[in-house]
Order: sequence, then C-alpha cells, then structure tokens
Amino acid sequence: MSSIELVPGLAGIPAAESSVSFIDGQAGILEYRGYPIEALSEHSTYEEVAWLLLYGELPSASELAAFNKDLEELRVLPDALVAMIQAFPKTGHPMQALQASLAGLGMVSPKVNIKDADSRDQAARRVIAATPVLVAAFERVRAGKEYVAPKAGLRTAENFLWCLDGEAPDEVAAKTLDCALILHAEHTMNASTFACRVVGSTENDPYTSCSGAVGALFGPLHGGANERVLNQLGTIGDISNVEAWFEGKTERKEKVMGFGHRVYKTKDPRAKNLQILATEMFGKLGNTPKYDVALKLEQVVTEKLGSRGIYPNVDFFSGLVYEKLGLDTDVFTPIFAMARVSGYCSHWCEQMLDNKLFRPAQIYKGEREREYVSIDKR
Ligand SMILES: CC(C)(COP(=O)(O)OP(=O)(O)OC[C@H]1O[C@@H](n2cnc3c(N)ncnc32)[C@H](O)[C@@H]1OP(=O)(O)O)[C@@H](O)C(=O)NCCC(=O)NCCS
Repeated sequence: MSSIELVPGLAGIPAAESSVSFIDGQAGILEYRGYPIEALSEHSTYEEVAWLLLYGELPSASELAAFNKDLEELRVLPDALVAMIQAFPKTGHPMQALQASLAGLGMVSPKVNIKDADSRDQAARRVIAATPVLVAAFERVRAGKEYVAPKAGLRTAENFLWCLDGEAPDEVAAKTLDCALILHAEHTMNASTFACRVVGSTENDPYTSCSGAVGALFGPLHGGANERVLNQLGTIGDISNVEAWFEGKTERKEKVMGFGHRVYKTKDPRAKNLQILATEMFGKLGNTPKYDVALKLEQVVTEKLGSRGIYPNVDFFSGLVYEKLGLDTDVFTPIFAMARVSGYCSHWCEQMLDNKLFRPAQIYKGEREREYVSIDKR
C-alpha cells in the first residue's frame, strides 16, 4: 500500500511559487501582478498588460513605446514560416495549426540561451508579437486567400484584424478585441500554463513551451469551451427552449458549456467584464438574439446549480463577442491563445529563474513480477 494519497487533477496542490497573477475563487477576484483585472481592462492596453505580466510593473510611456516598436519588428514572419503555414492542410483546426506554427517559429528564430536575460526576453517578446500573425495567417490560408503581412504602426489587436482582412480595422472592433485580450492574458496555474511550465522545466525555449501549452488549451474542458458555448446557444435557438434543453442536459448528466470552474465558485470576474464589453458592443453594432438566449441560460443554470458554485466562466460571453466581430467559431480558442501567450511567457521566465525539472510521483496500481509467457503460449 502506498502512503502517498492521490489528488485527482492535482486540485489544490501547488505546483510552483508565482507572482504573476492571483485569484480568490470565492470572492471572484483576479489580479495581474497585484492590479485588479477590472482596472486593467478599463484603463490599459494589451501591450501594457503584457509588459506588466512579463516584468511585474506597469511600463512608463517610454518603456511602452520601445516595447511596441520591438513587437512591431518581431511580428514580421520569415518567409519560410509563412510557406510552412501555407502548406498546412486546410481541414486542420486553427489550434492544431497554431501549435505547429509556434514550434515552427522556434525553427526560424535565433537559438535561445535560457541562462541569458536578454535572450529569454527577446524570445518571449517574439512569441507575444508573432502569435496573432500566425493565427491570422492560417485563417487566410484555409480560406484560400493570400497571406497579409503585419502593418507598421498598428498594435496587437488592430494588427490581428488587419492581417485577417487586409483592411483598416474598425475602431470599435479593435478596442473590443484589445480588451478581450487583456481579460484572457493570464490566469494562474491552469492546465495550459502548467503544461508550459512543465515543458519549460526541461530547459526548453518559449516556442516549444508555448506550443505544448496551446495543445493543452485546445481541449473542451479548457479553452475549447468557448467554441462549444456558441454552438450550444445555436442549438437552443430560442429563449423559450432554454428550460427544456437544460432539463435534457441534466437528465443525460451532461455539462453545460461555459459554466463552472475549478477555482471560481462565483461568477468569473472575466465573464462579468466580457458581458459589459458584449453589451457595449451590441449597443454600438446591433444586438444578437443569441445574447438573449445566453441571459436566459445563465438565469436557469444559476437557479439550478448556483448553490453548487456553478456560474458562468470566461468562455460564456467571449464567443458572443467574437461572433459579433465576424470571426469564425473555431478561431475563438486561438484568440484566447494569442492573448494567453503573454501569461505563458511570464510563467516560462519565472520558471527559468528558479527551474527544477517537473517529475511528479505516481501511485502504481498494476501487477508486478509476472512470469514472461512466450508468444506461442498466449
Ligand atoms: C471547468 C470544469 C472542468 C471545472 O470543474 P471541476 O472543478 O473539475 O468540477 P467537476 O467537473 O469535477 O464537476 C463537479 C460537479 O459539478 C458538476 N458540474 C461542473 N461543471 C458543470 C457544468 N458546466 N454543467 C453542469 N454540471 C457541472 C459536475 O457534473 C459534477 O457533478 P457531480 O459531483 O454530481 O458529478 C467544469 O466546470 C466543466 O467541465 N465545465 C464545462 C466546460 C467549460 O466551460 N470549461 C471552461 C472552463 S474556463
């Protein structure tokens, strides 16, 4: 009998000491480097937040200007990488394309010396700068369109929209996306951040580490939920169907996508902010009937499951925002990823500063010391 007790999913078990972000799941608080997410999403830009996550302080105006200049240069993809993305099967999921593209980015970038702060920094910035361009590039390719290179003078969100359409981005759309990127940039030791740190702990560069993290983020229990939320709202169709649909789900013991969280036992603060963002945007660009279905679903699920701490999570409203921006459903999770790489890279840097290879234990349940049976006797 083993004396070690298994904690499924490592729930509640610390995997690292970190000062990147903080969550109070009962009170619904999320802070990046001590700053409440509400203040950052109201007053900051995504680039300011990426700097804050990487370096622990809000940037001065000159630091931010230099950072933006650096990101602008690092956003330019080498031809070999564009050619690689153009060769991807068009039927692949954009998350699969992103996972491969991030590994490809490592193949065309200078070798990272993880012991050197400048080298680490440059690689982290390259990942943050290039990821949105990688996502947009595959969107173009799979639609049979020409690659659009990033444009100087545009920031992350604007550039992403530019690279998608090859047209000057709409101001409301760019502002909304910028805010959504802030809200998705970091979230403590979730599955994909943990994956990033595990891959990094073998002294891997941030390209490989973030590629691994993107694989973890793809799953429906993690970032993949936002895509399913929208499909779910489409299936329900009308507010009059919500209650019957929910009863059916409960009878089949199926989960409602966009609800519940391992840490938050109240409404996810990011969901609150995204809802504000969504309503502001619908006010400017017109309402969507799916939002009414979403509100009714929130009411029904909260009535039935709220006492068990099951409330809307970040994925519940993000899909509605992205759909209104005209984005394809299966590109929602890559947008999550292109925001989250700033969190991944901050964790990767933290891991490199005090690295220990992750090598957990297991509780062995199999047989032992068996007698080998030759193939003719089996
Ligand atoms: C995110 C999630 C995996 C975290 O949950 P967790 O802490 O691991 O909790 P579990 O999955 O073990 O669920 C605990 C209980 O709550 C229920 N529950 C959790 N989320 C639920 C949901 N979205 N709908 C209905 N029931 C839910 C489970 O069925 C389980 O019930 P049981 O004890 O009767 O078996 C889970 O809430 C979930 O799968 N949500 C849907 C997917 C989603 O939106 N993911 C995005 C996360 S940001």
